[in-house]
Amino acid sequence: MADPRGRSDAYAGVDDAGYGSGYDETDDAFGLEIAPAQVTGSGADELERAAEAALRPRRLEEFVGQRVVRDQLSLVLQAALGRGTAPDHVLLSGPPGLGKTTLAMIIAAELGASLRVTSGPAIQHAGDLAAVLSSLEEGEVLFIDEIHRLARPAQELLYVAMEDFRVDVVVGKGAGASAIPLSLPRFTVVGATTRAGLLPAPLRDRFGFTGHLDFYSADELERVLTRSAGLLGAELAGEAAAELASRSRGTPRIANRLLRRVRDWAQVRGDGSLDLRAARAALDVYEVDILGLDRLDRAVLTALCVRFAGGPVGLTTLAVTVGEEPETVETVAEPFLVREGLVGRTPRGRVATPAAWRHLGLTPPADSATLFS
Ligand SMILES: Nc1ncnc2c1ncn2[C@@H]1O[C@H](COP(=O)(O)OP(=O)(O)OP(=O)(O)O)[C@@H](O)[C@H]1O
Ligand SMILES: [Mg+2]
Repeated sequence: MADPRGRSDAYAGVDDAGYGSGYDETDDAFGLEIAPAQVTGSGADELERAAEAALRPRRLEEFVGQRVVRDQLSLVLQAALGRGTAPDHVLLSGPPGLGKTTLAMIIAAELGASLRVTSGPAIQHAGDLAAVLSSLEEGEVLFIDEIHRLARPAQELLYVAMEDFRVDVVVGKGAGASAIPLSLPRFTVVGATTRAGLLPAPLRDRFGFTGHLDFYSADELERVLTRSAGLLGAELAGEAAAELASRSRGTPRIANRLLRRVRDWAQVRGDGSLDLRAARAALDVYEVDILGLDRLDRAVLTALCVRFAGGPVGLTTLAVTVGEEPETVETVAEPFLVREGLVGRTPRGRVATPAAWRHLGLTPPADSATLFS
């Protein structure tokens, strides 16, 4: 399956130590240029991950927004620390760029535990997972990104490991094969997924705590931006922060990326200050529209309104029309469009709301309101 966020080799293998190669915490790659079409996409490529690492909050108290998840998680962690045991397994779900990986790292930091990083697609065979599990030490945190993409046999191995702290190591082949149970120390799995719905119920049930991350409010994004600007050694004017926040699709990753583009503009074409003028000019250069919609979002809206007269249209047809994988349309573009009230999901397919027509500068047809209801 094509990876909607083009990150396949950021997790080429299982990392043995600490944060591992996917997360280089020291590189400063802020000067990197990103093609306009990618400026507002919520995914991140490998180069961008390096730029992001420096902006990642390290502790729970630095983590902006997501108050409910933060409170709940803080309780889970404090209780575990108080008891001196590893906490329950934690599942983090939500659209790309909202802070799942960041939270996984924070969990390990708060527990004072080391973090092992792997991902669903990196684990090809159940044996790969067995190898990781059997090398875990007491109290370690195992982060499994894109956990919904773990192969079935690996999932089954994981159920047992999460519940009974045991793996069955299979020795031999065919009729002579036997399973030798190996007991594991207590550890904590932190799973991240953009598609919680794809996790089989038995796996979902093994997580004692599930945190669902939601899009950030403009206020919260302003705080993210001000904090990031500080870390970059720049001063971001209040009005500029507000402008960027309102065009970041509720996503800290996009907010930070726009901030870097504004910094570029200010450096190359402005006088170096990150003010409203620089913010607006940079947003224009990168064709970020008033709602922060990107090329894919606008393609989806245009296809819905113009090509399919407002819908309803099935996800697969819509994806083919915009030249993307259904998974990309569903996980990357759709959640924000639905949240902004531009697209509705009905049993018969996706529909454009009157707001979608207006956003494209078109007049909604008289029956579009009834179509949506
Ligand atoms: N609550 C927050 N406060 C401040 N910065 C944040 C917050 N959440 C995320 N960020 C910033 O956004 C960037 C992206 O976050 P992160 O990598 O954790 O997203 P993710 O949910 O794991 O995305 P993906 O699904 O693509 O893996 C991070 O570099 C971090 O700097
Ligand atoms: Mg992540």
